[in-house]
Amino acid sequence: MKTGKVDVLLGLQWGDEGKGKVVDVLTPKYDVVARFQGGPNAGHTLEFEGQKYVLRSIPSGIFQGGKVNIIGNGVVLAPDLFMDEAKDLEKSGHDLKERLHISKKAHLIMPTHRILDAAYEAAKGKNKVGTTGKGIGPTYTDKVSRNGLRVGDILENFEEKYAAHKARHDKMLKALNYDYDITEVEKKWMEGIEYIKQFHIVDSEHEINNILRSGKDILCEGAQGTMLDVDFGSYPFVTSSNTICAGACIGLGIGPNKIGEVYGIMKAYCTRVGAGPFPTELFDETGAKIRDLGHEYGAVTGRERRCGWIDLVALRYSIMVNGVTQLIMMKSDVLDGFDKIKACVAYKQNGKKIDYFPYDIEEGIEPVYEELSGWNADMTKFTSEDQFPQAFKDYINFLEVQLETPIKIISIGPDRDQTIVRK
Ligand code: GDP
Ligand code: IMO
Ligand code: MG
Repeated sequence: MKTGKVDVLLGLQWGDEGKGKVVDVLTPKYDVVARFQGGPNAGHTLEFEGQKYVLRSIPSGIFQGGKVNIIGNGVVLAPDLFMDEAKDLEKSGHDLKERLHISKKAHLIMPTHRILDAAYEAAKGKNKVGTTGKGIGPTYTDKVSRNGLRVGDILENFEEKYAAHKARHDKMLKALNYDYDITEVEKKWMEGIEYIKQFHIVDSEHEINNILRSGKDILCEGAQGTMLDVDFGSYPFVTSSNTICAGACIGLGIGPNKIGEVYGIMKAYCTRVGAGPFPTELFDETGAKIRDLGHEYGAVTGRERRCGWIDLVALRYSIMVNGVTQLIMMKSDVLDGFDKIKACVAYKQNGKKIDYFPYDIEEGIEPVYEELSGWNADMTKFTSEDQFPQAFKDYINFLEVQLETPIKIISIGPDRDQTIVRK
């Protein structure tokens, strides 16, 4: 009997590559879409039929064909934010109660986790990570230190369990001298707990493997990006989960031998939101122009994204640790109006040229660029790759050679339809 396959789609840079858009585009090819890590720190934007949606905890496969979507065990879930997100979707005609399944093993983000997130950031002062403030770090810390509260816990004696965890957090916050008041937030959070009970709360690892056994295919949707991975990213300026392909095995309970395609998503340039190293960051008017044309402001926090040229050293590293089989290039249209485009092909570290992503990425890194011609053409209405200007074709070829991986999909605008699948 044919078993189904699992393909993984993930970001190769510092997040916000356009994962949401592409998951939506690819969903018709799959039976199920699943999130495997992260939480409401994600903001995945989709646009179609003149509507725009930003998803945080809900997978981006919910809009196409009534497919089942799964929130896996590797995800951290904030019930209040989840309730807001799901109710908004309900209002716009998408009731997900029957087809959004939530893992019992997913950990809950408590209101005090968010307070702890803020308290730790404040304690770090100028070294702060610039987190999204959603309690991600403290929730994963509790998980790993075996102190977490899981979705499955809401089904029995929940109040008691919650109170014990809250008391522990309260002691930690007192030790940090951090004043807080969660009275209102907590009320809504508890409403969120009741709301979640209306969804299918499942043993997702069993469900997923049964789906595969029945010959159906699954698309795993990554959040954040490889350079934010807790092991391989620009530590400590990272998120608290494994964003790489292996994270899909852990965050869903899938054997590594089940993974097929690994779609790596990158922008035609590079952005980062929050603090930490970013070798190709531009502080000049070119950076401002990219921000402007690319509307580079955070989908969740509204924060200005830092912008720069594409970094092929970092991308080669990301392709390596993920085993990327094909690339998807997003926001190509944002570079439509540039005479010259640069790509970072190596770094100089303290005067020495290196072509790999070093351990001490913060120390004296200077990008080495190759300059390419811009195409100065509006690509946003193109419908086939034959229409691409020669200079853009040259850019694609250059990237494919440098990255030793084919670029199979090109995105030329935020809308679902502004997507070109190459022959
Ligand atoms: P994600 O977190 O990886 O899903 O990405 P975000 O949604 O945070 O950020 C990507 C932003 O770029 C969103 O505002 C998208 O609507 C937009 N976008 C996606 N693809 C394209 C594209 O090809 N061109 C342009 N101009 N915008 C795009
Ligand atoms: P999507 O899925 C971009 C960044 C934060 C901060 C660091 C740690 O939309 O691509 P956290 O709140 O996770 O503890 O913050 O990671 N960050 C993201 N940056 N896109 C994201 O998600 C991000 N999620 C977290 O800005 O630097
Ligand atoms: Mg985003």
